Amino acid sequence: MRVSADMANAGPFSPARDLQARLDAALGPQSAERNDTASDLAEPTAAEFEAIAAHLARAAGIRLEAHKKQLVLTRLSPRLRDLGMSSFAAYCALLESPDGGDEIPFMVNRLTTNLTKFFREPHHFEDLARRLEQRLAVQPRARLRIWSAGCSTGQEPYSIAMVLAAATRRAGPGDRLVLATDIDSEVLARAEAALYAEADRRAAPPAMRGYFGAPDAQGRCRIAPEVAKLVRFKPLNLLEDWPMRGRFEAIFFRNVAIYFPIDVQQQLYGQMAHLLAPGGVLYLGHSESIRGASLGLETLGQTMFRKPSAGGVDCWSGA
Ligand SMILES: C[S@@+](CC[C@H](N)C(=O)[O-])C[C@H]1O[C@@H](n2cnc3c(N)ncnc32)[C@H](O)[C@@H]1O
Repeated sequence: MRVSADMANAGPFSPARDLQARLDAALGPQSAERNDTASDLAEPTAAEFEAIAAHLARAAGIRLEAHKKQLVLTRLSPRLRDLGMSSFAAYCALLESPDGGDEIPFMVNRLTTNLTKFFREPHHFEDLARRLEQRLAVQPRARLRIWSAGCSTGQEPYSIAMVLAAATRRAGPGDRLVLATDIDSEVLARAEAALYAEADRRAAPPAMRGYFGAPDAQGRCRIAPEVAKLVRFKPLNLLEDWPMRGRFEAIFFRNVAIYFPIDVQQQLYGQMAHLLAPGGVLYLGHSESIRGASLGLETLGQTMFRKPSAGGVDCWSGA
C-alpha cells in the first residue's frame, strides 16, 4: 500500500510519513519480526523504563516486565535517532510534553511484538477447513465472516483466506470476508503490500503454495488476488470501542492476549464470545487460556472454544 499524499504531508510527528520512509527502505524480502538493532545509547533508567511501560500499558494494554529494559533500548533507539535525541530522559520528556500524545503511535509501533508465520498452529486451519466444508456442503452460497484480531504482518489472515479460497473454489462464490485488525499501523501497511519471502511459500502446506505468486526480482511472492480480495485490513486498538456489529463464524485471537494482564484478557474474551455467532469458534494461541465455562464457551481442545448452538442454530452446520 502506498500511503496517500495527504497522509504523507501530515505534521512532524506523522506516523504515515515515518511509515512511508521506513516501508520504502525496508520492503525487501520481509522477515516476520521487526529487527531489533544494536544501540549506542545508554539503557533507560528504572524510572524512564517505568514511564515508557506505563504509557504502553495505557495506550495498548501491553505489559512490559522489568527485565525488558534491553528490548526497550534496542527497539526505541532508531526512533530516538530519528528524533535527534541522545537519551531516554529526552524521550520521556517528549512523552510527558503537550506533543507526547502524537508520539504514542510511534512508540506503540516500535514496542509491539509482531512475530507470526503462515499456518502457525496448523490444526486451527485444519479445523476451519473441516467446518467450511461442512457448512458449504449444506449452503454453498453461505455468507461468512472471520476475524483475525492482532493480525500483525498478515500471515494469519492470508492463511485463513487461503483456506476460504480453497473451499470457495469447490463450492462456488459467496459473500465471504476476513476482517484483519491490528493496533500497529506499520504491520498493517506491510500486510496490505501482500509480498512475502519465497521461503514462506515453500513452508506453506503443498495445497496452499499455489496461492503465492512466482517470486519477483527481489525474491518476493505476491499473495494471489483471489486470496487478497477476501481480506480487509483495518486499524483497531482492542482496548478501544469495536465498530463491528455483525456476528463472526470464527475469531482468531492468537498470541495477542498473552501480552495483556489477566483482567484485560478476560474482558476481551468476553467481548469476543458475544460477537461469535451460535456455534462459532474462538481460536487462541497455544499458551493462552480461557475460563471457557465462565464465558459460556465449550472447550474443544487445542485452544479452540465454541459458542453453543442457540435454539437449534449452529453457524457451521447451516442448521
Ligand atoms: C505476536 S503478534 C500475533 C500475530 C498473529 N495473531 C499470530 O498468532 O501469528 C501480536 C499482535 O498483536 C498486536 N497488538 C498488541 N496490542 C494490541 C492492541 N491493544 N490492539 C490491537 N492489536 C494489538 C501487535 O501489534 C501484534 O501485531
